[in-house]
Amino acid sequence: MPVNKHMNLPINSPDDRPAPESRIVINGGRPLRGRVRIAGAKNAALAVLSASILADNEIVLENIPNISDVRAMLEIINYLGARSTWLGPDVVRISGGALVQREIPYRLARKLRASNLLLGPCLARFGSARIALPGGCNIGSRPMDLHFKGLAGLGADLGIEKGFIRGTAKRLRGNRIYLDFPSVGATENIMMAAVLAEGQTIIENVAKEPEVVDLANFLNNMGARIRGAGTDIIKIEGIKSLGGRVRYAIIPDRIEAGTYAVAAAATGGDVTLENVIPPHFEPLNAKLREANVKVEEGEDTLRVSAPEPLQPVNIKTMPYPGFATDMQSQMMSLLCTVPGTSVIVENIFENRFQVAEELRRMGARIKVEGRVAVVEGVPRLQGAQVKATDLRAGAALVIAGLMAEGQTQICNAYFIDRGYKNLERKLKSLGAEIDRI
Ligand code: EPZ
Repeated sequence: MPVNKHMNLPINSPDDRPAPESRIVINGGRPLRGRVRIAGAKNAALAVLSASILADNEIVLENIPNISDVRAMLEIINYLGARSTWLGPDVVRISGGALVQREIPYRLARKLRASNLLLGPCLARFGSARIALPGGCNIGSRPMDLHFKGLAGLGADLGIEKGFIRGTAKRLRGNRIYLDFPSVGATENIMMAAVLAEGQTIIENVAKEPEVVDLANFLNNMGARIRGAGTDIIKIEGIKSLGGRVRYAIIPDRIEAGTYAVAAAATGGDVTLENVIPPHFEPLNAKLREANVKVEEGEDTLRVSAPEPLQPVNIKTMPYPGFATDMQSQMMSLLCTVPGTSVIVENIFENRFQVAEELRRMGARIKVEGRVAVVEGVPRLQGAQVKATDLRAGAALVIAGLMAEGQTQICNAYFIDRGYKNLERKLKSLGAEIDRI
């Protein structure tokens, strides 16, 4: 059997990820300067694409980032019969498909965590669901008890057998549901099921992330009747069916933007982010300003610079509108060379400090104790060979490489491709010396 020249695996190996050797090389120490356009939000795109299977109508989605997680989600909805095609670099049309209930196999579900967002839509559309569990993610066990509790509250019968999520729901009925924790995925799954349930659903203690609001807005464009998204309580009046020709542009990616903002500050640069929604940055901007970073808000731009020496800060990750866990690793990199002591508490995921190990290889002084990391600023980071362990850890290592003296090589760069489109190109345009080998 022919072998894949990279991975020495059979050419048709199910492991179709790019070779782990796909590595990013950075010669650091140069300030980032210029303008960069931010793409659509990965976590809004994944939720909206899941919701698109709730109807057979023609849907055109704009501002969809062509990243590997989105391509993996498109592969899954096409497998269920939706017909999605790219009409442009960031425009996807879904139309003309005849959706059928099919078991979503592990080879598709394993490619992204968010495959679990198909649970609610499959139950609402087909009355049943069989989805291979996406498997643990590096940052934590990623349980689904809140998803199951909420969907069971709507009348679904759910279980896990032989590595598959199994669900049936003859008829979903509206109910009052309280979420012990404002889980983003659970809020989204319950919302997508409730829009086609009989009667009213009230979900309390919901996630308020902008991506949840974007999903609600998209569903309302499809004829759903959802109120209160972005507050603690969402009310949904169930309807018989969704449809209509829909054209919808998703929100920009506040985490991609935040990553470039932190990179600009960490390299002592001056970068203007274009196509952003400034209110989505309140949590990050407050922390950057506390660290003495200069942030200037425009209509749909943010200008980030670091004219003064930075100050150490303490960070506690919290559900929105608290400080985003998805920005925690990136801030850890920035704080590595800020004189003084910074304390980071990661309250959302139980294993999201793995990047500390890799930063230490670059000379960082970080002590991790459970959910607390203490960062002692050092004068400079040194370039080194490091490895990405998850998407945002990879982004944090790119920032560290941009800050460091000398060359940094980041392997397992495919993790970064899950959430960042054209990363090297965008950073090169800002003056970075960065390449992919
Ligand atoms: C979403 O993940 C995002 N992913 C994550 O982004 C993000 O970090 C996270 O929300 C928090 O903001 C997508 O939107 C595709 P959660 P999700 O359910 O929905 C616990 C990235 O880098 N929990 O809000 O999985 C869970 O263990 C990714 O873009 C339960 O206990 O996050 C975690 O500790 C990473 N039971 C906490 O809640 C459940 O049933 C937050 O999880 C569900 C979650």
